[in-house]
Amino acid sequence: MKKPRVWITRRIPQRGLDLISPYAEIDLWEDELPPSYDVILEKVRGIEGLLCLLTDRIDDRVLDAAGSSLRVISQFAVGYDNIDISAATARKIPVGNTPGVLTDATADFTWALLMAAARRVIEGDRFVRSGGWKTWGPTFLLGADIARSTLGIIGFGRIGQAVARRARGFEMRVLYFDPQRHLALEQELGASYAPLEDVLQEADFISIHTPLTPETYHLISDAQFALMKSGAILINTARGSIVDPQALYRALSTHRIAAAALDVTEPEPIPPDSPLLSLENLLITPHIASASFHSRTRMAEMAAENLLAGLRGEQLPNCVNPEVYQRTQE
Ligand code: DGY
Repeated sequence: MKKPRVWITRRIPQRGLDLISPYAEIDLWEDELPPSYDVILEKVRGIEGLLCLLTDRIDDRVLDAAGSSLRVISQFAVGYDNIDISAATARKIPVGNTPGVLTDATADFTWALLMAAARRVIEGDRFVRSGGWKTWGPTFLLGADIARSTLGIIGFGRIGQAVARRARGFEMRVLYFDPQRHLALEQELGASYAPLEDVLQEADFISIHTPLTPETYHLISDAQFALMKSGAILINTARGSIVDPQALYRALSTHRIAAAALDVTEPEPIPPDSPLLSLENLLITPHIASASFHSRTRMAEMAAENLLAGLRGEQLPNCVNPEVYQRTQE
C-alpha cells in the first residue's frame, strides 16, 4: 500500500524521524533556516500530514493550498500561535502539540535567566574577557537579592507552576496572575493569586508564562512598566509579542525597571540593529528555553505520535482542537 505523504518543515531529532519513516513518505526541509511562506504554500500541496515548527505560519491560505488531502497538523512545540486553529477546525483537521515534556527544561531556563540577570553574570563574563578585571571591588557589579524576594508569575499553567515550585528553595513570596484561580495548588506551591496590577506593583521578579493570544498581545506595555518597582527584573520565556518591544526599550533605557532577560522577542529573531541590543541591562538568548537533549527528543516523539495518529484517522494523543472529533448534528 502507498504510504501517506508528509512534509516536515525542519530536521527534528532523529528519534522522531525514525518513528515516522516506516509509515509515511517523508519530505524533509533540510535547510537551517525555515521555509519561506511561498515555499510552504508550494510544499503543502497534496500532502496528508504536516509536521511544522513555531517558525512556520500555517494559515487559511496554506490550508487552502494543501487541499482536502491534509488530515493532520502536528506542531513541534507546546505553543501554537503560528497556526490558525479555527481555520484548521473549520476543515476538521486536528492539530497536535507537545505539552508537558518541556515544562522542566523551560522552568529551569527561566531560573537561569532570572539568576543571571539578578546577579549580572553575563556582564561579569564580558568584563573579564575584555581584560577589565584588575581587582576585587566592594561596590562592583552589585546585583539584586533573590532569596526572600517576591516573584510575580504571569500565567500559571504547567510552566508557571514549575517556576513557582523552584522558588520555594529561595523562600520567595510568590504571586501569580492567571485568568483562572488555581486554589488547590496555592498551598502546595506557596503561591497566592493576585490581580495583574498587584503582581506588577509588588514583584521584584516578573516572569511571563502565558500563551500568546489576542488578549495577551502586548500585555506588558508602558502602562504596565509604569506600575513596576524600579528594581524589577522582567523575564520572558513565553512569546515575544506578549511584551511591547518599544515600551520595553523605554523602560530599560530610562531605568524605569532594573533589567530584563528575554528568550523570546518581537520580531523573532531580533534584528541585529535593534536598539534593545545596545542596552547593558538586557540579557537575551535565542529561544532556547526548551533546548535540552531530553525535552527536544521527547518533543520529536510526541510530534511523531500526533502525526501518525492523525494519518491513521485516530484521535491525536495531544490535540489542541478536540472539537474536530465532535459529530455534527444531522
Ligand atoms: C514551545 O514549545 O512553544 C517553545 O516555545 C519552544 O519549545
